[in-house]
Amino acid sequence: MSAPRGQFSSNIGFLMAAAGSAVGLGNIWGFPTKAASNGGAAFVVVYLLLAFLLAYPALMAELTIGRHARRNMVQALREISIGPISRFFGSLAGFGGILVASLILSFYAIVAGWMVAHLAEPFASLFGASGAVEWLTGNSTARNLTFTAIFSGLTMLIIAAGVEKGIERWSTLLMPSLIILLLLLIAYVLTQPGAVTGLEVYLMPDFSHLSPKLLIAAMGQAFFSLSLGVGTMLIYGSYLSQQESLPRLGALVTLIDVGIAFTAGLLILPAMYVAQEAGTQIFSESGELIAGPGLILQVLPALFDTMGTAGLFVAIAFFALMVIASLTSSISMLEVPVAFTIENLGVPRRLATPLVGLIIFAISSTIIVNFDTLFGLVVSISTEYGQPLLGVALCVFAGWIWRRDQLLAELKKGHENIEQTLFWKIWPWYVRIVCPLLILTAFAQSVM
Ligand code: PFF
Repeated sequence: MSAPRGQFSSNIGFLMAAAGSAVGLGNIWGFPTKAASNGGAAFVVVYLLLAFLLAYPALMAELTIGRHARRNMVQALREISIGPISRFFGSLAGFGGILVASLILSFYAIVAGWMVAHLAEPFASLFGASGAVEWLTGNSTARNLTFTAIFSGLTMLIIAAGVEKGIERWSTLLMPSLIILLLLLIAYVLTQPGAVTGLEVYLMPDFSHLSPKLLIAAMGQAFFSLSLGVGTMLIYGSYLSQQESLPRLGALVTLIDVGIAFTAGLLILPAMYVAQEAGTQIFSESGELIAGPGLILQVLPALFDTMGTAGLFVAIAFFALMVIASLTSSISMLEVPVAFTIENLGVPRRLATPLVGLIIFAISSTIIVNFDTLFGLVVSISTEYGQPLLGVALCVFAGWIWRRDQLLAELKKGHENIEQTLFWKIWPWYVRIVCPLLILTAFAQSVM
């Protein structure tokens, strides 16, 4: 007998959890830096369009399938299949989702571990422990293993507590804190010299950057940012009550995700130019704005250093923001393989969580030890290949394989008059034809 499934206790609980999954390092780090290196507001406009025209429909496919099947991705896709062939592909995509979610978590936990180490650093400084400061900010294997382990442990603790007491409770607590920290940091940074130049770079559109490359960058960013393709939104949808309107909740999640990404740009870009004003180099040798780990781990810490004692508190606020954003995302990734282990293998949650968590930690450790060869490879396989291809599979399942009357019946729950809405007039054919074609075209472009 399988254990009873968890469920979000409220609309808000689901919203915080799903927005928590969506809002992560991708929003606070990825989005602003991609915008800065791809024509500022030109990228922002394209991103907004893609988020609503492409990512939102795909998100709806995941949420609707999940709530209907009330199962993990493997079982859910099998359940809406119509014969042995589609059932086979359903299992394949489902296992693909579990694998890719686990791979994303394996590199995400490493980056989040860096954030935890940098959060600990100002505390070590306050106590004058200079040896500890050096260790925490150095990039040693021991430091990386330790902090990836700490971050993975936190993720496991929340997931082991279950849907309502773990995912929902922590997301509801952490998401508002994230927003408050973000706004406080923006208010502070905008008062510093140089901030306005950063705002200009971020908000002045340079449409000469419009190109297939920009489109692909924006699409990849939208997919990663909304946590699509790997079954996180599907599994969260499966814990959602039937009284809620899915199109409305999905739109809210998209709005929050896009809103926070945009707001994060108001922090990161001005902060970079404030750092430049304070004497830190923000352009690489080739003249490009520093966007990779150097930005978060060198440029911004250098800026905090110039701020004296206030800088310690700004650093704490900033890295706390990064850790919170990472944690509400990492729990959603871990829930994907854990839900499968609970439902398909009959393992209780409290055992399934450390079991799966440790396997993923072993992958993270392998990446840390072979960082130069593996890190970029795992990021690319999971986010550039895995996520878009699985996104196509989910759209195909929602648009072609699942029976239309069942799909409509599911959407009607919590939204009686859905048939009269613009959503129902557009979305079914959109997810059937436009989404897969757009994703595949962009994918082919990027692979070639
Ligand atoms: N959406 C997260 C971010 O923007 O950082 C990343 C992510 C979470 C990707 C969950 C995939 C996933 F399943």
